[in-house]
Amino acid sequence: MERVSSKEEARSAVLAARREGKRIGLVPTMGALHDGHLSLVRASRKRADYTAVSIFVNPTQFGDAADLNAYPRNLEHDLSLLVAEGVDLVFAPSVGAMYAADAQVVVSPGPLADMWEGASRPGHFEGVCTVVTKLLNIIRPDLAFFGEKDYQQLKVIGRLVRDLDEPTTIVGCPIVRERDGLAMSSRNALLSPTERGEAVALCEALEAAAQAVAWGERDIATIESALAEEFASRPSLELDYAALVDPETLAPLREAGSLSGPARVILAARLGSVRLIDNAAIAPIE
Ligand code: PAJ
Repeated sequence: MERVSSKEEARSAVLAARREGKRIGLVPTMGALHDGHLSLVRASRKRADYTAVSIFVNPTQFGDAADLNAYPRNLEHDLSLLVAEGVDLVFAPSVGAMYAADAQVVVSPGPLADMWEGASRPGHFEGVCTVVTKLLNIIRPDLAFFGEKDYQQLKVIGRLVRDLDEPTTIVGCPIVRERDGLAMSSRNALLSPTERGEAVALCEALEAAAQAVAWGERDIATIESALAEEFASRPSLELDYAALVDPETLAPLREAGSLSGPARVILAARLGSVRLIDNAAIAPIE
């Protein structure tokens, strides 16, 4: 496994692989890797001939400095995990190597990025889109792998490559969960043991909504109340949003009144200083 920290080294490593006719896969990450990230690496190892992983805690997507500083970092451990997965290249630049000191051009993601996570974290998706565009331009992968865990991010990136004609295919990968159902996240490491116990409410809420639909409930307001109820009994969990949305536009379905086709349940909640998100597909079966 080759490990590089400059764009030039990354470009020339990938160029050599491309000259050999290899199909290039990219897995962008912010490190503190867990099995969720590794599932993307495995998907890339299956579908591409050469897998590059980027590890970069991107400051431009963090609204608040405390959140950026608290973000877990463990580069040496990450590298050992990636060697074991048979990754070809790790690109782990410093902030100075990634952004010119006077960088001013950004990628504006549009209205899809203004709702949900974007509403709670203004500027977040602009930072994500800018860094992902840079990574796509540096690595120029055939395929880039993103997790459904960050469902809105996956959809925003899908629009980015479509609207800007990026020649990369975006591959979405399913959510990997802990044994008790909590979606794996680098932020889980920041939870206290008590908070970790309560965090399971997020996926329990998703299950409650799916269960309500399985039992024949179609009224969207009622399904959303079933979701919110899971949080009402846990005062340490502060619900940010929990909604049924259109799986592509992420528009809230509540006004439609009743569920008539596939939807996505998305939610975000705060446990102390840690913000967690989760989501699931939901579909009425007649
Ligand atoms: P990060 O949070 O490190 O996540 C990197 C990738 O791993 C994302 O595509 C994310 O959706 C995926 N992922 C995280 N947890 C997962 C899980 N439990 N199951 C499946 N996939 C999971 O997302 C980012 O970094 C950044 O915004 C980035 C795209 C790298 C841009 O900076």
